[in-house]
Amino acid sequence: MYLEPVNFVAMKENQIQIHYNTYQWEELSESYKNLMDRSIAAQHNAYAPYSNFKVGAAILLEDGTIFTGNNQENAAYPSGLCAERVAIFACSAQNPNIKIKVIAICANSDKIDINTVLAPCGSCRQAMYEYESKQNAPIKVLLKGLDNEVVEFLCVEDLLPLVFQCDGLKKVR
Ligand code: THU
Repeated sequence: MYLEPVNFVAMKENQIQIHYNTYQWEELSESYKNLMDRSIAAQHNAYAPYSNFKVGAAILLEDGTIFTGNNQENAAYPSGLCAERVAIFACSAQNPNIKIKVIAICANSDKIDINTVLAPCGSCRQAMYEYESKQNAPIKVLLKGLDNEVVEFLCVEDLLPLVFQCDGLKKVR
C-alpha cells in the first residue's frame, strides 16, 4: 500500500496554554480552607477497599451549602465511581438550580507514595464541565497539592482543553 507523504511544509503547529494558581495553605481564604477541610473529611470516609486510594470532594454552592462525596468502589470494578462524580451528581440531583462556585478535591493512600499533584480523571473533568456549561458560569477547582500547596483552576474548562461539547446534541430528539 502506498501512503502519500505528509506535507510537513503546510502543517501548522498549535499550542494551548492552561492557567492555574498555587497557594500555600496559610494564604487561602477561610472559605477555601473550610472547603478543603470538608473534602479531606470526605476522603477519610471513601469506600476504597480495592485500590486503597481514597479521594474526597467538597462542593460549595452559591447559597453557601456544601456537598461532599468520595470514591465508591465495587467488586465489579467498573461499577464503582470517582469522588468528584459522586459529589457533583448528588449535588445536581438535589439542587439542580443553584450554581456551583467551587469544588475542592483531595486524594491520599496509605499504600502508595504520592509525589505529584493528584488531578481529576478525564471522565470527571468532562462530567464537571457539563455543569459549568449548564450554569453558564465558571466552577473553580481546588486541588490539594504536595506538602502545603493548594492548586486553583479558575474554571473546569482550564483542566480540559478541547472539551467535548456539542450544543447540537440537545436539539436532536
Ligand atoms: N478516583 C477518583 O475518585 N477520582 C479521580 O479523579 C480518579 C480516581 C478513584 C477511583 C478509584 O476508586 C480510585 O480512585 C483508584 O483509581
